[in-house]
Formats: sequence, C-alpha cells, structure tokens
Amino acid sequence: MERFGFIIHPISAKKDVARKYPIAKYLPESFIEWVMTYKSPVFVSRIEGVKSLTGTEAEGVFVGCPLCTRQFMTLSPEFCYKRIIQTVKLAEENGAKICGLGAFTSVVGDGGITIAKNSNIAITTGNSYTISTAIDGSLNGAKELGKDPKTSQVAIVGAAGSIGRVCAMIYSNIAKNITLIGRNPEKLEVVKNELNPNCNITITNNVEEGIRDADIVVTVSSAVDSIIEPSFIKTGSVICDVARPRDVSVKVAKERDDVLVIEGGVVKVPGDVDFHFNFGFPPKTAYACMSETMILALEGKYENFSLGKELSVEKVNEIKALAEKHGFILDGYRSFEKALSKEDILKIKQKAESKMQNVK
Ligand SMILES: NC(=O)c1ccc[n+]([C@@H]2O[C@H](COP(=O)([O-])OP(=O)(O)OC[C@H]3O[C@@H](n4cnc5c(N)ncnc54)[C@H](OP(=O)(O)O)[C@@H]3O)[C@@H](O)[C@H]2O)c1
Repeated sequence: MERFGFIIHPISAKKDVARKYPIAKYLPESFIEWVMTYKSPVFVSRIEGVKSLTGTEAEGVFVGCPLCTRQFMTLSPEFCYKRIIQTVKLAEENGAKICGLGAFTSVVGDGGITIAKNSNIAITTGNSYTISTAIDGSLNGAKELGKDPKTSQVAIVGAAGSIGRVCAMIYSNIAKNITLIGRNPEKLEVVKNELNPNCNITITNNVEEGIRDADIVVTVSSAVDSIIEPSFIKTGSVICDVARPRDVSVKVAKERDDVLVIEGGVVKVPGDVDFHFNFGFPPKTAYACMSETMILALEGKYENFSLGKELSVEKVNEIKALAEKHGFILDGYRSFEKALSKEDILKIKQKAESKMQNVK
C-alpha cells in the first residue's frame, strides 16, 4: 500500500471556518484570522480506495493548515513556511511518504522549495499535472465551441507564475497569437523571451485589455479576489479558470450565457476512492494538484516533483504519461461548481452564434 498526504486550508476565514465553528459567523474576519495564527495543524480525514489500473493501491490523509488565502499573501513567508512544515509533519506522522501542497500553501514564497528542504518526506505542489489538465481542458472546451486553437487569440492571466508560465510555453507551440497578462510587465517580458519565437506575443498588466479579444483564456493568477468581470469577455470564448480562489467573477455565471467558463483540473480518480471530506467536487473526483500527489504515490516515486516557480514542459509530459498509466482522466466540464452537460455547452454555442449574427 502506497501512502500520501495532502494539505488543504480555508479559502476564506469567515465562510470556511464558520462551517466547522458556527460562532465564527458572528465574529469579525480580522479576529478569526488572528486566532488562526495560534492554531496548530489539524487532521482532516483519511482518503481510501485509490487504485491504479496497474493494481497498485494507495491511501492518504487530508491535513489542514490553519491559515486562509489572505493570510498567505499578507503574513511573512517565514511564518507561513513554519505552519506548512508543521502540517507536513502531521501528514508524515499519519504515514505519508509524499505530501502535496494545496491551494496557497504552494503559492506562498518560493513555491515549496523551503518546505521540501525542511521536511523528511517528499513534497510536490501538484502544479505540473495542473498545467497538463489546464491545457487539455481549455483545448477540449475550444473544440466544443468550434474554435481552432491554431488561429485563436489565446490569453494567459498570471503568465509569469509557476503554472501560467508553462501554460504560455505550451500554447506558444500551438497558437499563433498569445497575450501574456500579469501585474509586472518586466516578469512578463522574461517569459515572452522563453516562448516559441514564431508566435506573436503581446504583454499587458491590464486584465480587461488583455482578454477583450481572446477566444481561449487560461486564467491562473494568485489574486485573492476575482479579476475577470462579465464585461471583459469576448462572445463565444472559452475560459479555463484554474485559480483558487477563482479569477472569474460569479457574476459571469448570471450575466454571460454566451461564454464557456470551465474549472481547471477536475480529475476522475481511479478505484473506488472515498475522501471522507467534502471539498465541493463530485464523488470520486479531485483537483489536479491532489491527483498529482496520488499519481506519484501510486508510482512509488517518493521524491520532490513540482517545486519552485520554474517548472518545465518535460515534467508536465512526464506526469501526464504517469496519469494515463494509472488511470486518472479529466472528468467532463464544471462551471461555477456545477456539472455542464453537452446540451448546456450547445446552448452556450448557439447563444454566442446568435449574438455574433446580431452584431454583423
Ligand atoms: N485547480 C488546481 O488544481 C490548482 C492547483 C494548483 C494551484 N492552483 C491555483 O493556481 C493559482 C496560481 O498558482 P501559482 O502556483 O501559479 O501561483 P504563482 O506562481 O504565485 O503565480 C501567480 C501569478 O499571478 C499573478 N497575479 C497575481 N495577482 C494578479 C492580478 N490581480 N492580476 C493579474 N495577475 C496577477 C502574479 O503576477 P506577478 O508575479 O506579476 O505579481 C503571478 O505571476 C492559485 O490561485 C492557486 O491556488 C490551482
């Protein structure tokens, strides 16, 4: 039996903490966050029933790091590392030989490098498989809407980040026109120089301007609040939102029935998996980053895998091949936490076509 752990954390102090401790609903957010800085990591649940196509089985644990998204972005990285390292230790005490860093535990500071140096077990951010599923998900979505990625305008939001940079690299070998979007144009310029020179690349720090003409958008910023509003989006486009918390405003679900917004990285796990914890996904499915941790455990590859801010296309290809070997697959489409059927997608396509006809 192979063994892994995965770290989760509350996205919002008020909403997520109140689910476990209802009193939190009546307390100021800043007070809850202050209390959290004194809290030790917690055991959340056992994960059972992961079984590879090869017959290898794995079990794991969810462990909770008691800091919320905003705290990871405002407290010192050193403080956050200390809490995350303690949480890894808890996973190790529960038998894990590799630990995945969920949500902002992988974003903070150097993206897992310091945590790996100070842990006894292997560490991965899960970002290589997240990249693989973001590319496949956005390409599948484009196909559903009848878009040819080669001739499409592609935009990557958060393009200087760990996930965004490699998404841009891969798309620069597929599409002719790419816009790189981020807060810091100098960092985007560095990424631009790493991409296929045959691709036309523009950079901007203005999200609205960057996605206005895009047919395919992969959005993967570390923004704490949503950054893509309904008015920014081109009719008939597909947006793959990989960020957690999400980049696309929930208003888009209500106001734009002519665009396809899909969640990045919803993966069907092989076997009869029970997480014994509801993280908002349908049964037997997991985030891509959780899946990467399980894949490495099933492979018995107990070594640091996706670490730091400079991941490679080779690692993405390696984990994609291992995912296929063990039976992990992208699980259809989800949009704003709801499954999308083929009929739903057809309706979006028809709305977009009729809107485009009216413009002509
Ligand atoms: N769905 C999944 O399975 C999964 C797995 C792993 C991670 N994630 C999520 O993916 C996201 C990114 O992770 P990462 O490791 O790539 O983070 P990262 O390395 O910190 O990169 C994030 C990038 O976002 C940019 N950014 C931040 N705020 C922005 C804003 N307001 N407008 C435009 N760009 C902005 C940053 O730009 P600057 O550098 O210029 O400031 C940075 O380059 C996080 O939300 C994380 O939770 C999801």
